[in-house]
Parts: sequence; structure tokens; C-alpha cells
Amino acid sequence: MELKEGGKFTMCFVVLIFFDTSLLEVGGIGVNWGTQSTHPLPPSTVVKMLKDNGIQKVKLFDADPNILDALKKSGIQVMVGIPNDLLYTMANSFQAAQKWVAKNVSAHVSSGGVDIRYVAVGNEPFLSTYNGTFESTTFPALQNIQSALVKAGLGNSVKVTVPSNADVYESLSSNPSDGDFRANIRGLMIQIVKFLSQNNAPFTVNIYPFISLYEDPNFPTDFAFFNGFSAPLNDNGKIYDNVFDANYDTLVSALNKNGFGNMPIIVGEIGWPTDGDRNGNLQLAQRFNQGFMTRFIAGKGTPMRPGPLDAYLFSLVDEDNKSIQPGNFERHWGLFYFDGRPKYQLSIGSRITGLVGATGVAHLPKKWCILKPSANLNSDQVAPSVSYACQNADCTSLGYGTSCGGLDVRGNISYAFNSYYQVNDQVDGACKFPGLSTVTDRDPSTPDCTFQIMIQTDSAGKMGSLRIIQFVFLFLVFL
Ligand SMILES: *[C@@H]1O[C@H](CO)[C@@H](O)[C@H](O)[C@H]1NC(C)=O
Ligand SMILES: *[C@@H]1O[C@H](CO)[C@@H](O)[C@H](O)[C@H]1NC(C)=O
Ligand SMILES: *[C@@H]1O[C@H](CO)[C@@H](O)[C@H](O)[C@H]1NC(C)=O
Ligand SMILES: *[C@@H]1O[C@H](CO)[C@@H](O)[C@H](O)[C@H]1NC(C)=O
Repeated sequence: MELKEGGKFTMCFVVLIFFDTSLLEVGGIGVNWGTQSTHPLPPSTVVKMLKDNGIQKVKLFDADPNILDALKKSGIQVMVGIPNDLLYTMANSFQAAQKWVAKNVSAHVSSGGVDIRYVAVGNEPFLSTYNGTFESTTFPALQNIQSALVKAGLGNSVKVTVPSNADVYESLSSNPSDGDFRANIRGLMIQIVKFLSQNNAPFTVNIYPFISLYEDPNFPTDFAFFNGFSAPLNDNGKIYDNVFDANYDTLVSALNKNGFGNMPIIVGEIGWPTDGDRNGNLQLAQRFNQGFMTRFIAGKGTPMRPGPLDAYLFSLVDEDNKSIQPGNFERHWGLFYFDGRPKYQLSIGSRITGLVGATGVAHLPKKWCILKPSANLNSDQVAPSVSYACQNADCTSLGYGTSCGGLDVRGNISYAFNSYYQVNDQVDGACKFPGLSTVTDRDPSTPDCTFQIMIQTDSAGKMGSLRIIQFVFLFLVFL
């Protein structure tokens, strides 16, 4: 099977080499396509954007039929995901796993055309902060899905994997060569890795240098990037001048140590956010992602695995409805804003020199909801209004070191009101903060801070009216 495909590819290679050298990048870079947005782009628009940018691989967090339909015959390779909340069911019922595979893999593959390569079973299920919630279900779910794939005749073409956070392994010294799986799940990880190995499946890991910097104010900034670091780590002659290499090789050591030195590794998520934190901005995100892409394109791996990397950038577009439990930056990981505008210049292929934005995107009218110039800031409605707006929309660009962190008090309030108004599709009732708000057609944005306008979505009207009811109710309570 493998051999046959290899042969086919070589032939194409010979023909194509004269036409399009970009296709030489086998597989190329992948991207994560998350959909936790109040105003997601239509799937067909996103697929066109992927193609326009030469992106040939996507990783999804579930198996949305509209997205899979849009990917049909696109030539894009797909990793579909099973969310953590389905693991229990998949673990406890082989029938449920079979149904999942039938509905969410077989149906799309056989109807002519989604190139599904992987099923991601869970998403970082062993994250320390989950306190072991998915520890007993992930492995049986993985086994059931694998058996279901085999039974469906997809055992060779679709591989299972478990995208894991880098916290599933550790090094007790600071040396990558001392890496091993996290003590409290070591036995489980070895069982899983053994199972993946038996089924020719890869290990998938998410590596986040940004989080190293976010969690430790003393973390040396330059060590997070790929431009060299003045005090590199020397691990028995192997030199580490960036935390990505050190982290990746800690995993390589963990695999080596337990007898799986040849297991393929996929970097399931890697990226840098552009807002919501003092280290989340366009400059640092560009620096990190370009640094990563340059070595990726050059086929440069790590000191222990010098060959080409397999990786998926996190992420494609911003998602304004993601939980901000990890931090306000969580809604700002996109290479593109929510509406498909590129955020900064980035070369993601040897031929591709800049990101290409989404086309045919329809925004709502140029209208904003702001604090009335005459509004009394001492009104006791101000605090509950802002808090309500922020809870139900997105104020993660406000705060120290963020894009709108320079606004004054009035600007802050306007920002919150506008976010709520836009998330609610500019319906009149969403700009009725008692005695405080007004709609304007003059853009309140500043050079650093964009007062966003949402895009048109199908569900606009319905959601809007539902929210107005909640809104009116809230102010009755305050009166
Ligand atoms: C936002 O997320 C919440 C909870 O995760 C969900 O209940 C809600 O429907 C989502 N809203 C939109 C507009 O997608
Ligand atoms: C297919 O995947 C979707 C999205 O994750 C999920 O809601 C649905 O339950 C799955 N279908 C089956 C039959 O398991
Ligand atoms: C995990 O445990 C901590 C501390 O006991 C608790 O604060 C947190 O809410 C728990 N998280 C989950 C997802 O259960
Ligand atoms: C604006 O709002 C943010 C977030 O709510 C807050 O941290 C900041 O102090 C506010 N700035 C002013 C000038 O009120």
C-alpha cells in the first residue's frame, strides 16, 4: 500500500517539477481550523482561502459536516477530531465508535472526496488542569476508533492519534536528553505509544513557547524565538538556542527511552497570539511564526531529529467565542482575523511570500455603538452595562499591553458597547445601554485599536432577537 502510493507520487513528481516547484514541499505546513466564533466565515470561503495560500493540510477539532462538505475534492488533507466530551461514549461502546466512524469518516471519504488522513482522538485529554478527567477513557476510545476504522476498511488510509499537550512529558533536569513521560501518567502514555506504534500511527504534540513566556516572567524572551539566544543550553554537546527544539527533543528522549525512537511526531499546534496579553502582539507573532516557517521550509528539524518537521500552525482564524480560562490571548491565535484579513506578512511556502486574505466577505454596515458624548460616567448603570457587554461579547483587546489598552475610560466603555452591538449583528436593541449609548457612523478606531464590524452570517436574525430578550430582562433586574 505504502509502496504503491510512493511510486505514484514519484511519477507525478517528475512531471510536476517543470511546472510548479511549490509542490515539492511534501505535505507542506498544515493549519488548525477552529470554529468557536460568533461569526464564522462560510466553510467554502475558508477552503478557497486555504487553497489561495497553498495550504494543503488542515486539522479540525470535530467533524462538522458543512466543513467536510466544503473540503470535498479540495485536495486538502484532513485530520478530523473527536472532542473530549465524546471520549466516554467512544470508550464504552464499540457500536458508538463504529457509528462515529461511519458518519464522520466513511461517509465523507466514500462519497468521493474528503482526503481524511487522521482521526484525532480527544484534544489534549491529559492536560494537568483536567485533573485526570479523561485518563480512563482516552485509551479505550482510541482502541475502539482504531478497530472501527479497520472494520470500515480504512485501517491503512486513516491513522489515529491523540493530540497531547507538551505537559505529558517532562525533564527532571533542564536537559532534553533527560526527558520521559510525566510520572503520574507514564504507564498510560507508554501503553498509548505502543498502540500507536503497532498501528503505524504518529504521536501528536502541541508546543507553545508563548505559554512558557506567559507563565514565567523570568523566562528569557529570546529563547522563545528562533533568532539565536546568547546563553544556549548545552546538553552533552547538543546545542539548544530555542525552547521549541528543547521541548520537542524532550519528547524524542521520552520516546527513545521507552523503545519508540522511530515513532513519527506531528506538531499538532504551534503559534503565537496577537492580542490579549503584553506578549501577544503582531510583531512578536510575526517574529515567532516566520522564524518557525523559515526553518520548516528549509526542512530543518531539531538536534535529535534533524530532518523535516510535520506541523500544523495554530491557528487559521481568530475565534471570539473561545473560553478565556487560559487567558485573554486565547481568542487571538489566528494568522487571519475572524473575517479572513491577514494580520501580518508571513511566508508559509518557498513560493508564497505573503498571506492571501479571504475573498467575497460581506461585512455589516459601517455603524458602531459607542458611549454617548453626553453620557454621565458616574451613572450607576455604567459598571453593570460594561460588565454585561463584556460577558456576552469580547473585551479581550482591552487591558494592560493589549491593542486597545491605550484607550481612556470613555474609549473603554465604547469598545465594550460596540463589541456587544456587533456580536448581536447591529440590531437596534443591542445599543440601548440605559442613557449611555448611541449608534454612530464615524469609525471610533484608533491606529492601534480596531472597533470591529462583524460579518454577515446566516443565523444573524434569529440569534439577535433571542439576545435582545435576555438584554431587556437584564435591565429590568437592574431597575
Ligand atoms: C458561544 O459559546 C457558548 C458556550 O461555549 C455557546 O453556548 C454559544 O452558543 C456560543 N455562541 C455562539 C454565537 O456561537
Ligand atoms: C459526528 O461528529 C459530530 C461532530 O463532532 C458529532 O456531533 C456527532 O455526534 C458525530 N456522529 C456520530 C454518529 O457519532
Ligand atoms: C482541578 O482541580 C483544581 C484544584 O483542586 C480545581 O480548582 C479545578 O477546578 C479542577 N479542574 C477540573 C477541570 O476539574
Ligand atoms: C479599560 O478596561 C480594561 C479592562 O476592563 C481595564 O483593565 C483598564 O484599566 C481600563 N482602562 C481605563 C483607562 O479605564
